[in-house]
Amino acid sequence: MTDLTWSVSWETDLDDAAHGPLARLLARAYDRPDRFADGRSWAGARPERRIVAHDAGAPVAHAGIVRRFLRALPDGGEVLVGDVGLVAVDPARQGRGVGRALMARVADALVDLGVPFGFLSCGPAVEGFYRAAGWTRLPGVTTRLIDTHHRNRTDTDPAMVLAAARPPAAWPEATVLVRDGQLV
Ligand SMILES: CC(C)(COP(=O)(O)OP(=O)(O)OC[C@H]1O[C@@H](n2cnc3c(N)ncnc32)[C@H](O)[C@@H]1OP(=O)(O)O)[C@@H](O)C(=O)NCCC(=O)NCCS
Repeated sequence: MTDLTWSVSWETDLDDAAHGPLARLLARAYDRPDRFADGRSWAGARPERRIVAHDAGAPVAHAGIVRRFLRALPDGGEVLVGDVGLVAVDPARQGRGVGRALMARVADALVDLGVPFGFLSCGPAVEGFYRAAGWTRLPGVTTRLIDTHHRNRTDTDPAMVLAAARPPAAWPEATVLVRDGQLV
């Protein structure tokens, strides 16, 4: 892992040419060449911030963050989060701590962005990975969101949170979190 070079970029600062290699990395990691075709290194919302690890100039790990407000129902409060997605490690590098190093940099990036919390929803198969990185599952919470096909969806997958600039106790009570935008 010491051979990796890490970068944190704003979306508009990324060269157009950077997206092809990122799309291929995401297609390999998610085994979804269809989703990341034509050099599109995103599936739903584009991140505003990307954390990327390179090996000899090629991307081998990636995460994206976009800031947004979630609505917390039924009380109707709002919470600003860094919504995290497109978390991926090259299959050839998995199981060797790269994902852990990536998530440590994501935590730093959330603090840099000044957001109170990090938020993500994930498949049950990777909940343990996020827990190992310090994230906490919100019990009994469903997420309403707009999917990659621009349709409304209600999701019962694990909703995970990381305290960044605020303590965990500042997270609002909610049984439903509404993300009025596409997942990252
Ligand atoms: C999930 C993923 C990013 C993990 O990356 P990785 O480099 O293999 O993870 P690491 O080797 O750094 O593992 C870090 C810790 O998480 C644990 N972990 C990794 N994958 C896990 C999983 N699927 N379930 C439970 N724990 C997991 C490891 O055991 C390790 O714990 P430890 O340090 O206490 O032993 C990688 O497997 C991947 O890219 N998967 C495909 C894309 C994907 O599913 N992304 C998440 C979408 S929400």
